[in-house]
Amino acid sequence: MNLDHVTTLEQLRAEVEAFEGCALKRFATQVVFSDGSPDARVVVIGEAPGAQEDVVGKPFVGRSGKLLDKLLAGIGLDRSREGKDGVYITNTVFWRPEDNRTPTPAEIASCRPFLFKHLELLRPEMIVLVGGTAVKSVLQTKEPMSALRRRWLAFDVPGVGAVPLLATFHPAYLLRNPPAMGEAQGDWAMVKAKLGEPRKKGA
Ligand code: URA
Repeated sequence: MNLDHVTTLEQLRAEVEAFEGCALKRFATQVVFSDGSPDARVVVIGEAPGAQEDVVGKPFVGRSGKLLDKLLAGIGLDRSREGKDGVYITNTVFWRPEDNRTPTPAEIASCRPFLFKHLELLRPEMIVLVGGTAVKSVLQTKEPMSALRRRWLAFDVPGVGAVPLLATFHPAYLLRNPPAMGEAQGDWAMVKAKLGEPRKKGA
C-alpha cells in the first residue's frame, strides 16, 4: 500500500474509512481512528476497539479506557488536553473484532501501514505500546511482554528516525490482574521521567 500522498491526519482517516482490505470492517459499526491531541509528545497504541468504542467511535472509552485514563492521570497526562501536553491514543486495528477477540495477524498486517503512517505524521517524542498485540504489530517480535518491559527501546519511525518506545501491560490485563498495577505504574513513571528530561536540540 502506498500512502506517500497522505500528508495530514484527515487524509489518513479518509484512507482508513475507504479501505476495504481489512476483514474486520464487515462486522464493525464504524472506524475507530484515534483520540487526543495530534501535537502530543506521547502516543499510546492499544490493541483493538471493543463494543463501546465501536459505538462511540473513539478508542479506550470503556472499562479499559477508564483505567488507561487513570494511569495517564497518575503521571499528569490527560487525553482531553490540547497541544503537546496532551496524549494521542490509537490502536493496531481500526475496527472492532467480533466478540472482542484478538485481531488476527492478517488483520493486524492490513492495518499496519496506517498505524505507521500515523506515527510518521505525528512525529511523537515517545511511543507507549499497551499490551502484547501492540507489541506484535509495531515491533513485529514474538518476545513476551516480560522481556520487553521496564526499558526504553528505540523504534525507527519511517521518515522520522529513532523514537523512544516503551512496552507495558494492557489495561484489560490489569483489570484481570490488579496486583500488577504497581508494576504498570512503575512503567508509566518511566514515561513521566522521560517527559521531564531536557529536550534534545532541535527536537
Ligand atoms: N482496548 C484497546 O486496546 N483499545 C481500545 O480502543 C479499547 C480497548
